[in-house]
Amino acid sequence: MFQTRVTEMLGIRYPLVGGTMMWVSTPEFVAAISNAGGLGILASAMYPSAESLGEAVDRVQKLTDKPFAVNLNLFPMMRPVDNREVLDVLVEKGVKIVETSGHSAPDALCGRFKASRMIWIHKCVGVRYALKVQEMGADLVTVVGYENGGATGKLDTGTMVLIPRVAEACRVPVIGGGGIADGRGFLAVLALGAEGLILGTRLLTTQEAPIHERLKQALLQAGELDTMLILRSLGATHRVWINEAAKRCRDLEASQAGVTEILSVVAGQKAKAMYDTGELDVGVVPCGQGVGLCHDIPTVQELFDRIIREAGEIAARLAAR
Ligand SMILES: Cc1cc2nc3c(=O)[nH]c(=O)nc-3n(C[C@H](O)[C@H](O)[C@H](O)COP(=O)(O)O)c2cc1C
Repeated sequence: MFQTRVTEMLGIRYPLVGGTMMWVSTPEFVAAISNAGGLGILASAMYPSAESLGEAVDRVQKLTDKPFAVNLNLFPMMRPVDNREVLDVLVEKGVKIVETSGHSAPDALCGRFKASRMIWIHKCVGVRYALKVQEMGADLVTVVGYENGGATGKLDTGTMVLIPRVAEACRVPVIGGGGIADGRGFLAVLALGAEGLILGTRLLTTQEAPIHERLKQALLQAGELDTMLILRSLGATHRVWINEAAKRCRDLEASQAGVTEILSVVAGQKAKAMYDTGELDVGVVPCGQGVGLCHDIPTVQELFDRIIREAGEIAARLAAR
């Protein structure tokens, strides 16, 4: 059930994609997602050198024989990465699926995906970006609505409108998400015209997610109102869980503090420290409104099986009416 062009093209059991998550999408977590029947995506930006990225890819390949992807980050970064080098590693290691996310995809880099016979997925937040990468040769497009955890872009289009708009405009298959956390949302995403679902926030409260137990428990307590937008003043809007660091970032932006001071609050290393130690106010955690739908901490396999089962039951119930 629920076989689509996404499951066919990617060779996965369920049309479920585990969104790239900085400091969370480790080889172990990526493999857990792929082994559970979805597509795990390794966050290449976590690795400071070609060598360490190569080792991470080796590790994923050791832990799963299922398809997985590697993300190339196109967002501006405090520690810029040379994506040409990253791509060299992926080609050398025989990685078959690549995801790009962030600002406009550079022609030269993306041309190499085709030349290397990789499947290219691009993640974005608007119809015009989706059409642009389709013309550049993207094989699939992922779109996430404004409810999503992490970068929300500038267009502020909600998932309910964004997915059908992109699905009617594009000929390539669409993976949709943003605020989705269960079988109800999965079925809705398919009804809107997507052929796969991307999940980020919901995966934070799984057993395998490599974040501290205290943070998982805090996210379980959080509701749909417990996220906020930060970094809009720098043109890099992110939806994050409301904690002291997020509020400090908001206050600094409001008082027009310098970029360096603002960025010091949201530094990735601070988020990593929080994931490792469970100190809940050290950094900011990207988090979508779907956090209000996270009520337990299943394994990834249990979560995926449940999403598919629930969606099947709802579809049958609706059809029977
Ligand atoms: C903790 C966390 C970290 C994220 N880091 C990244 C990232 O580094 N690169 C990226 O493209 N998207 C990142 N995202 C976005 C996800 O890949 C995905 O698009 C998004 O979470 C889907 O929306 P949802 O959170 O509402 O399910 C992150 C999301 C979360 C929750």
